[in-house]
Amino acid sequence: MHRTLGVCYYPEHWPEDQWARDAALMVETGLSWVRIAEFAWARMEPAPDQFDWAWLDRAIETLGAAGLQVVLGTPTATPPRWMLDKYPDMLPVDAAGQVRKFGSRRHYDFSHLGYRGEARRIARLMAERYGSNPYVHAWQIDNEYDCHDTTLSYSSAATRGFQDWLAQTYQSIGALNRAWGNVFWSMDYDDFDQIALPNQTVTEPNPSHVLAFRQYSSDQVVAFNRAQAEEIRAYSAAPLIHNYMGRITSFDHWAVGRDLEIASWDSYPIGFLSDRIEGTAEEKQFYLRQGHPDNQAFHHDLYHAVGRGRMWVMEQQPGPVNWAPYNPAPLPGMARLWAWEAFAHGAETVCYFRWRQAPFAQEQNHAGLLRPDSQPAPALAEAATVAQEIADLPAVDRGQAPVALIFDYQSAWAWDTQPQGADFDMFRLGFAAYRALRRAGLSVDILAPDCADLSAYKLVFAPGLMTISDPLRAALSTYKGIALIGPRSDTKTDQLTIPSPMGPNLPGVDVTVALTESIPPSDAIALEEGGQFRHWFEHLEGSATVFGKTVSGQPAVMGGDHLRYLAGWPDDATFDRLVRALCAEAGVMTYDLPQGVRIKETSTHRFIFNYAPEPREWNGVTLAPAGVHWEEL
Ligand code: GAL
Repeated sequence: MHRTLGVCYYPEHWPEDQWARDAALMVETGLSWVRIAEFAWARMEPAPDQFDWAWLDRAIETLGAAGLQVVLGTPTATPPRWMLDKYPDMLPVDAAGQVRKFGSRRHYDFSHLGYRGEARRIARLMAERYGSNPYVHAWQIDNEYDCHDTTLSYSSAATRGFQDWLAQTYQSIGALNRAWGNVFWSMDYDDFDQIALPNQTVTEPNPSHVLAFRQYSSDQVVAFNRAQAEEIRAYSAAPLIHNYMGRITSFDHWAVGRDLEIASWDSYPIGFLSDRIEGTAEEKQFYLRQGHPDNQAFHHDLYHAVGRGRMWVMEQQPGPVNWAPYNPAPLPGMARLWAWEAFAHGAETVCYFRWRQAPFAQEQNHAGLLRPDSQPAPALAEAATVAQEIADLPAVDRGQAPVALIFDYQSAWAWDTQPQGADFDMFRLGFAAYRALRRAGLSVDILAPDCADLSAYKLVFAPGLMTISDPLRAALSTYKGIALIGPRSDTKTDQLTIPSPMGPNLPGVDVTVALTESIPPSDAIALEEGGQFRHWFEHLEGSATVFGKTVSGQPAVMGGDHLRYLAGWPDDATFDRLVRALCAEAGVMTYDLPQGVRIKETSTHRFIFNYAPEPREWNGVTLAPAGVHWEEL
């Protein structure tokens, strides 16, 4: 697969006589793709049913004629102001019941069927007009679902939609009462239309009620996306893409991904480090201008799977962003490193965000490839370097990873609903396992929770899975490698109740979680072989083999040759020890990497990345800070 670069561009922000010069410089830089239009609804349809397509026709023509391939975005993340006159109740409502107002973006409610119809309509109009345009080579639907916490909305549209969804799901109110255990606290309902959204209750609502609302809300994102996908497909054969975000678990990306050809994501490594990743003050300082060395890789691997083998980075940070608590500039070379890391993980295309820094509005302090005065910003030359390097090394495939990690959104909702310990977080747990695998130099495939075939992997990690799906259970029952399942796996039903028999119900393994405890940061459970469990510990019983113990003699891991259950949340040292021991047993090669160095093996090459702010040497190769090296395997 040939690798390409691109950029996000807003022709509506600039005088028209600048477009051709911009396009020429994009091509000269070595960019092949340009994404446009995803926020331009008010320019396409300035008043209801009054259209101005001419500027967009000319923009596509100018960019395309210069040699660029256009990704055309549907503008549904930014409905124009007039839309609110038509649908005053389309605005999202937060959990405190406050309406979220117009004046920024994503001011719509996924449950609002009137607005969903409008989204369908503008997607259809764009597809009719540009579906066979020779310069439009891909579509982006909407922009960053859930950005600014917009999956959940506690509106009247959501209330009606949720009641319908419940009626369809449970068929009878008695079935719902039984499934949720509404006998508890006399919560029984007589009718679906009595069921309100699970916010503003006196104390916590029934977790089954909350989980159902999370499932319903995720389904609305899927339906909203699908409505647009159907319209575009009727007029265009070009691939459909959504640009997901990092560390978002509020909707099921696997489900959205099934309706699209390509999964892309928006990679802001430095913004993420300060905003969304746990770590010590020392780590945050060490990676201040590089980002966390595993965050990008994790999302590349995740979205490669969500896109069923087709993944892009739709937005790549080029310089300081504007939205994190602090916004330092990247180390020189990082805009190149991040792109190569994406390619090594299977990205087809990396698009920088954005072409020129905007001199106005919310993102005026957000860097682009050009400064607001059109002078080059530092990342422009780095993008040009990557373009040149791609020409020399055009084909990079991802290769087969020896290890898999299963990641599940439904479990994330369950554990948000019922954390049991204040710092229990599904993403954090999965990412902790992933980081340990990457510290050992392993390439990792991320799998959906309904995967039915594990035979390609010598080792599988399945932390935090609320339930084990039937296909996964079948795959585990014949699995010949080693699967480490847990902690907190297969111990609930899909209604967020406790199963009978109690879990985990691992095929052929007699182990039961008899009791769970959450552990405050001030405490930990010490392990016999060194290291600790933190956050979470489960007391296991059963006749399965004990593979490791706590210092007080309780099982830390129990199971058989192939399926093992992990009783707690390992600290980093313990994860490292477990990964190395399991790899040795399963015949997977591990590496000792210096701090900040990561590797990725494809089927032909080994890539080495230096995320440290100082030079590093590994395996006879010296890398400068932000250095990238590749060698044939
Ligand atoms: C993304 C978004 C872009 C832009 C960018 C700034 O989340 O998709 O439109 O806002 O962040 O970093």
